[in-house]
Amino acid sequence: MKWTNKNGYDWCEVLDIDSMVGRLIQPDLRPGKWAGEDIRKAMGFFTKENRRHGDQRRGVTLVHNDLTGSAGMSPGISVSFQPILPGEKLAFHRHNYVAIYYWIEGEGYTCNDDEGIDREETRVYWKAGDVTISPAWVNHAHVVTSKEPVMQMAIHDFPELCYRRVMMSEDPDGHENLRHMVKGVVPSFNNLDTLEDLEERSQKISLSTTTK
Ligand SMILES: [Fe+2]
Repeated sequence: MKWTNKNGYDWCEVLDIDSMVGRLIQPDLRPGKWAGEDIRKAMGFFTKENRRHGDQRRGVTLVHNDLTGSAGMSPGISVSFQPILPGEKLAFHRHNYVAIYYWIEGEGYTCNDDEGIDREETRVYWKAGDVTISPAWVNHAHVVTSKEPVMQMAIHDFPELCYRRVMMSEDPDGHENLRHMVKGVVPSFNNLDTLEDLEERSQKISLSTTTK
């Protein structure tokens, strides 16, 4: 049966439920692998100068190119790596996706403090091999205490929130920096980024894992 759209909104359709369920089926994703050497090689590109701002993240994320309508490793999950150098502190910020961290190398602590104050009682100390969590919308900062660089692996449900158009962040923390990531006018989660910064994309990196 051909439905007639009576209201003039051509993008709105009355559909049977089975057809709708058919549209929900996602493309098959092939099993994959991201080689440790590639990840470390990419991380090696990041030096002290290679940050736009004091609290700007530097790092790489793993992307599965079979995904459509999302980005990351799986439709709802991203896995990222970032080096944090000795003496560095990633300033307080918050976001409504959860952050699960596996600390691969180095030593330091994460301060989870909603008031954005680095105080002993809200610090979670970690060293290589530890796993920590900063729940959604908890204000957090990472501080390196080791002489060696820290290597962090972060697992986020960030893509899922973007897909649902509900991803929000305050980065750096503070209500004046509240951003709704999914709007096209907000190309970065960091409120300190200027358009010029983003055009330069000094942190943009892409390593092909296919042999040529
Ligand atoms: Fe974070």
